[in-house]
Amino acid sequence: MAVKVIVGSQWGDEGKGKITDILAEHMDLVVRYQGGNNAGHTVVVGDKTFKLHLIPSGVLYKECCCVIANGVVIDPEVFFGEIETLKKQGVYVTSDQLKVSSIAHVILPFHKLLDNRQESKRHEEKIGTTGRGIGPTYTDKVARSGVRIMDLMCRERLAKKIRKHQWELLLPDHELDIEGIIDQCHELGKKLAPFVIDTSLFINQAIDQNKNIILEGAQGTMLDVDHGTYPFVTSSNPVSGGACVGAGIGPHKIDEVLGVVKAYVSRVGEGPFPTELHCETGLRLREKGCEYGTTTGRPRRCGWLDMVALRYAIRVNGMTEICLTKLDVLDGLPSIKICVGYEIEGQLITEFPLDVDDFTSAKPIYEEHPGWTEDISSLTDFDALPENAKDYVRHIELVSGVRIGMVSVGSKRDQTIHLLQAH
Ligand code: IMP
Repeated sequence: MAVKVIVGSQWGDEGKGKITDILAEHMDLVVRYQGGNNAGHTVVVGDKTFKLHLIPSGVLYKECCCVIANGVVIDPEVFFGEIETLKKQGVYVTSDQLKVSSIAHVILPFHKLLDNRQESKRHEEKIGTTGRGIGPTYTDKVARSGVRIMDLMCRERLAKKIRKHQWELLLPDHELDIEGIIDQCHELGKKLAPFVIDTSLFINQAIDQNKNIILEGAQGTMLDVDHGTYPFVTSSNPVSGGACVGAGIGPHKIDEVLGVVKAYVSRVGEGPFPTELHCETGLRLREKGCEYGTTTGRPRRCGWLDMVALRYAIRVNGMTEICLTKLDVLDGLPSIKICVGYEIEGQLITEFPLDVDDFTSAKPIYEEHPGWTEDISSLTDFDALPENAKDYVRHIELVSGVRIGMVSVGSKRDQTIHLLQAH
């Protein structure tokens, strides 16, 4: 019986959806604790591909209960849209299986307009947001002017909160039908009502009953609003500490922190990325790794694994285990680089710099490892991997000081190497 947090170690898109789905087979609960539908978790089962944005990645197992906890920001239209899409793919989700926090904050149509307006005004300093209204919704939450799920149920309370906001001043270029939006949100609230509970109480009761629980992070450590490459970050806390706040549980209830680490690195949106490859190899990683945003379709920037950033992610998350993903994408590369330090203003730096300007000017210092020519995507046994692939995995484990428990070599469930004492 265990409570595990799954966190992204890089800039998101590490393959958390696949890892959550694999582990969910033996889980009673999968809980999303932050972010919203800016996330895109892909799960491949047989010939079907499921793209989940808001609903936790445990949903494909009927017995696994899924919880959208208080730390998530919820777009009710997206919520029902995702349930519909799943239905078309043969997955029927009801309020027995899916629970929503009454105190989670709501993404209103105004927040999406505001997200795009703010981004267009940033000119040279764009963040490259997903445009889903995430930042403005968290801003309202912290400013104590947000609308919570429970507010949707009472038209009077909802109308008071929405009218107070003076949206017309924030969105002068838009014709806003405020009353129409109040009605629309209230209708969605009534539809949402059967799903809505006190999720903190529900999760804590499950912990007391020794249930198996995954707290599923979205985005990644380097996009964390506190610990990431601020201001090029999202507006929530994807790190493991965010799981306590975002799910309403005490830190001592967490048993394990699984960090999902991609065998190389990708980043979507703006912001510094020292190991980014602007050459053929970068394009090759993008194409072979299908590195296009699940939510926005944007091409992802790709580069070599950065051990400085990874060691930092291990520290701020208290990682107890690593799941290494997409190792197969490196197949056929003659050599593979790993960043082991940065040169910043002539100095060798081996700890992650907190000043984004330092990080922007950081020149990566690499060590080089020989690649392998074989296709490893059908291997399920660590010992069957080419020697150089094994060395690459062992090396990451050695330098990070954290046990690698799983290596993923493809998007399907069975394209996974489970490491017990294999190496
Ligand atoms: P926002 O979360 O839409 O405000 O976007 C802020 C930054 O986080 C942008 O650079 C986005 O591209 C990035 N981002 C947000 N969600 C994800 C994700 O799930 N994967 C990767 N990047 C993300």
